[in-house]
Amino acid sequence: MGKKMKLIILVASALVALCAVAVAGTTPAVSPFKVNYDLFKLYPSLIVYEKSKAEFTEPETCGGCHDDKYKEWNGSLHSMAFIDPVYQGELNKAVKSVGHEISRQCEGCHSPAGVVTGEIKGPGLVGLSAVAKAGVSCDICHSIVALNHDKTPTKEPENGSFVINPGKDGKDGAVLVKNGPLKPTDACGGGFHECRQTEFHEKADLCASCHQVYHYDKHFPIEATYNEWKHSPYSQQGIHCQDCHMVATDTFVKVADSMTKPERKDYRHYFNGANYLLYYLGSQAAQKAGDKEQSDRLMHQYDMAVKRLQNAAGLEIEPIYRKGTLAEVRVRVKNLRAGHNLPTSLTNIRQMWLEVVAKNEKGEVVLSTGSLNANGSMATDARIFNSDGMGSDMHYSDHPWIITAFSRHETIPPKGYKDVYFGIPTPNGSSKLTIEAKLRYRQAEQEIAEALLKDVPKGIDLAKDYGLTEIPKLPVVDMVSLKRDVSATK
Ligand code: HEC
Ligand code: HEC
Ligand code: HEC
Ligand code: HEC
Ligand code: HEC
Repeated sequence: MGKKMKLIILVASALVALCAVAVAGTTPAVSPFKVNYDLFKLYPSLIVYEKSKAEFTEPETCGGCHDDKYKEWNGSLHSMAFIDPVYQGELNKAVKSVGHEISRQCEGCHSPAGVVTGEIKGPGLVGLSAVAKAGVSCDICHSIVALNHDKTPTKEPENGSFVINPGKDGKDGAVLVKNGPLKPTDACGGGFHECRQTEFHEKADLCASCHQVYHYDKHFPIEATYNEWKHSPYSQQGIHCQDCHMVATDTFVKVADSMTKPERKDYRHYFNGANYLLYYLGSQAAQKAGDKEQSDRLMHQYDMAVKRLQNAAGLEIEPIYRKGTLAEVRVRVKNLRAGHNLPTSLTNIRQMWLEVVAKNEKGEVVLSTGSLNANGSMATDARIFNSDGMGSDMHYSDHPWIITAFSRHETIPPKGYKDVYFGIPTPNGSSKLTIEAKLRYRQAEQEIAEALLKDVPKGIDLAKDYGLTEIPKLPVVDMVSLKRDVSATK
């Protein structure tokens, strides 16, 4: 064989080898991030499971002694993190596109117990234990014994970077050990479990493991709520996630305004956020199942989420004159009380936008932008505060297994603001204009919600479980609105 031929074969076999690597989905050598596969045996989830004879306990059992906490948690999105039909729809798509491996990454945060026990095999709810279906349950957070944030590929918290173990092997079998913020008393655990104090249950570090969603292979931060918080005035003043999300609405408002921590007695297991749509769907499902108490609990969370959004932001309107005539209005959108960017986490899916209408004295509309179209789709001229994700081909995508960069990121930093300028047509003969600005919010674009809910896996029946025979127009919350009269000339 000639030298040239040998070279061709060599190059060809190298190419085949490269393709094999790419197909298997392992990180190519060019990745700046090294994965410690010996430590992260559940990769692409970064959970480390310290196995002992101790098993996970159902939340109902914990609730037998911790009744208040059980009731508060039971209306939270943590309790729905796995059964959430929107999640199941997207998981179904992820597994179809990437393969079964990726489900470990997703479920590592949406149902950690199901992943470490190897019980969950893919999308759907059929045949799973109560602990797996309970999502982010008591025995997830309180079995976290350590954090591995500094050992991840990016050396940042990501994709479930915690160590979990529900207990230890004792002389007479398994001993349950629950980890929490308090110094244990002798009676701690009531004979059911031992107690162990950690320094991270009162800190954002606990939440960081799951509230940092990174691309499963390229480790790009698609959701980085913890990073946004870490470099903010809140973290600098010792205000953590718990201080706003594990308290009632009025406490959260006080915490954000005064930058002081709640009192010990104020903590609740609400984990209340912004996803009023899911609280509403959950409440419908509980009602269909005949559980009025649970339905009321979810509506309480719904009310709190709407109030949280309505307390998050502020608006200002300023006229701008050129040569003595009104030329523009500046609308300033302020992130008053979110401890991270506004909006945060699924910034490429959530929609927060400005609707601005200007009228003259006769009530004639001289400017109107940001009104939704009749079919519920976003107005093309809307000023929207969110992000657009893109894949490695630099094309738009909204799927977390494709997004490896952002082409645009326009969220508002904590205690910061963004200004938007709107040109005003020359006010023909008017002496005064009335400007009305609204900051509006919804969970997703109508089309995205429809696509996900149409792809829910077997075992979820939207009509039977949720009473949904068609996907309704997604409800919109007005976070804040402001009206101001401005003079046409100066
Ligand atoms: C998402 C994580 C998470 C989940 C899920 C969770 N907890 Fe907690 N829990 C915490 C954090 C954080 C604290 C500390 C908050 C504080 O400072 O009081 C805490 C504190 C506690 C405490 C001690 C503080 C006190 O006031 O007595 C108990 C007991 C407790 N949780 C029980 C439960 C039970 C029971 C459940 C399930 C119904 C549960 N937790 C679900 C994170 C969680
Ligand atoms: C690092 C933890 C983590 C991983 C990994 C993760 N998620 Fe999530 N996911 C979250 C958190 C936290 C939220 C809530 C964010 C919010 O509501 O703002 C969420 C929310 C969602 C939602 C929105 C649910 C709703 O009702 O609006 C979907 C859909 C979803 N995840 C799908 C997935 C899929 C599919 C994967 C795997 C490709 C995945 N997630 C991987 C933590 C994670
Ligand atoms: C037989 C009753 C009983 C059961 C069941 C029970 N606990 Fe406890 N637990 C206690 C008692 C008593 C304390 C002491 C503090 C208190 O009064 O709340 C305690 C304390 C705790 C603490 C605080 C530890 C600390 O140092 O901060 C956590 C966290 C906790 N339990 C979690 C759980 C979880 C999770 C479950 C379910 C896996 C559970 N408990 C089941 C009785 C129980
Ligand atoms: C084991 C992973 C995990 C941990 C730890 C965790 N979360 Fe979550 N959290 C999730 C997932 C997954 C969701 C989204 C569930 C869904 O929408 O389907 C979520 C949802 C939420 C929401 C509701 C978001 C919304 O859109 O309304 C809030 C608020 C929240 N978490 C706060 C916290 C806080 C505060 C902590 C720390 C004390 C914490 N979480 C710890 C996984 C986790
Ligand atoms: C100063 C109070 C404050 C602190 C601290 C805070 N948050 Fe929030 N959080 C809010 C407010 C207000 C909202 C509603 C507006 C929004 O969506 O950003 C919110 C919303 C959220 C949402 C829902 C986002 C969505 O649009 O679905 C998640 C998830 C969340 N926070 C997680 C966290 C985590 C994790 C931390 C800590 C790293 C944290 N928060 C710290 C006030 C706070």
